[in-house]
Amino acid sequence: MSFDLESLVDARRGLNFKLHQEFLNPQLARVLKTLGMDRYYERGEGCYLIDREGERYLDFLSGFGVYALGRSHPVVKKALHDALDMDLPNLVQLDCALLPGLLAEALVGRLHEGIGRVFFSNSGAEAVEAAIKFSRYATGRPRVLYADHAFHGLTNGALSLNGGKEFRDGFGPLLPGCDSVGFGDLAALERELARGDVAAFVVELIQGKGVYLAPEEYWTAAEQLCRKHGTLFVADEVQTGLGRTGKMWAYEHYGLRPDLVTVSKALSGGYVPIGATACSVEVFDRVYSKMERAVVHSTTFGRNQLAMVAGLATLQTIDDEDIVERARLSGEAFEKALAPLVEKYELFHEVRGKGLMIGLVFGEPSSLRLKSRWKMLEGARKGLFSQLIVGPLFNRHRILTQVAADNVNIVKLLPPLVCGQEEIDHFVDALDDVLNDAHRNSSLVFEFGKTLAKSALHR
Ligand SMILES: Cc1ncc(COP(=O)(O)O)c(C=O)c1O
Repeated sequence: MSFDLESLVDARRGLNFKLHQEFLNPQLARVLKTLGMDRYYERGEGCYLIDREGERYLDFLSGFGVYALGRSHPVVKKALHDALDMDLPNLVQLDCALLPGLLAEALVGRLHEGIGRVFFSNSGAEAVEAAIKFSRYATGRPRVLYADHAFHGLTNGALSLNGGKEFRDGFGPLLPGCDSVGFGDLAALERELARGDVAAFVVELIQGKGVYLAPEEYWTAAEQLCRKHGTLFVADEVQTGLGRTGKMWAYEHYGLRPDLVTVSKALSGGYVPIGATACSVEVFDRVYSKMERAVVHSTTFGRNQLAMVAGLATLQTIDDEDIVERARLSGEAFEKALAPLVEKYELFHEVRGKGLMIGLVFGEPSSLRLKSRWKMLEGARKGLFSQLIVGPLFNRHRILTQVAADNVNIVKLLPPLVCGQEEIDHFVDALDDVLNDAHRNSSLVFEFGKTLAKSALHR
């Protein structure tokens, strides 16, 4: 019998969690069941996921920021169908195919003038790995600096630049020469740079874990310090890039000109893995300095044609649908709609971020009545309250969000950049309802907390 996808899915429908428990990651299945997030999604469409019962879920996680254009965007879909029908000569390897050239040209054209070349890979972490290697080779220096709380991926090199103990513990020894500096701490940065052995400072312009921002004035000074000490300034735009923050690149908010820029996530419309390390001609040509070094850093699937097609279609769609400006305007609309809730609820302290990279910060309430409950929860597990927002948002209102980082009460929103007032209103009404419950000491929210505290998540 020949392979038929539809009959395969029909025949095995509903075995999702069982198969994951048996052959993939049983702990992930356990976590999702504990949180009540074990759904059977069948389709994705724009800002929504649709499960097998036909229920629609507003997706404010966007696959960790992949679905800038929403799910199943018709332009990217058609481009991929066309590419398959063209029987493109993929992965010839000893070839200079047209499509990688076009995508590199399109990316370079959208970055600042100091960027001239692109290396393609398959993920954000791989884009960062290339940045580490290129920086070390181009400068001849061993050390790489990163910021506290940073997240640059979980492969060995990227993990060496990770600001979270929970990710690193037990995987060492990691890359030597990687040291952290406080995010926004110029004095610490200068101290390290002055040693004269730092190849690169790798940094997110807005940190994904926790949605932390550095003071506005930090950035130009940090970039200048890097220049002064011969260190390459690497902007990790894997999450912030391609319109997410209301500018094409987050570095534009601060008028920066990074030497290297890493890109991934939204670049291929959510269809095909892709990573890109864009850099100055000077850096690139130092690494690939002669014919013997033509493949000194490479990866088999790096310039695969489907990723290139999806990337070209995505960039064109970002322009055609004015996605960057829409993200900026929707970010403003979010801020405006959420402000009254910060006023209304003592547990809700702050909304931060830029564009559609949004952190909702919760914290200790001022009234005695709520304080004791808060302390009970925080005592059971630090950062548990944010889970009490994410849980009911999902279970009661069918809105998918995430806890922004371990041990902090920050909920993160990464809506598709195509979302509009309808989705914003839906979210704000739902959050109002959940917070109202929490403030009324409703058992719904706090009982869920106690269950979680006792559950596997606590261990
Ligand atoms: C800023 C940043 N860099 C790198 C990565 C790693 O990307 P990937 O998960 O594709 O390896 C991420 C992933 O969330 C990220 O947010």
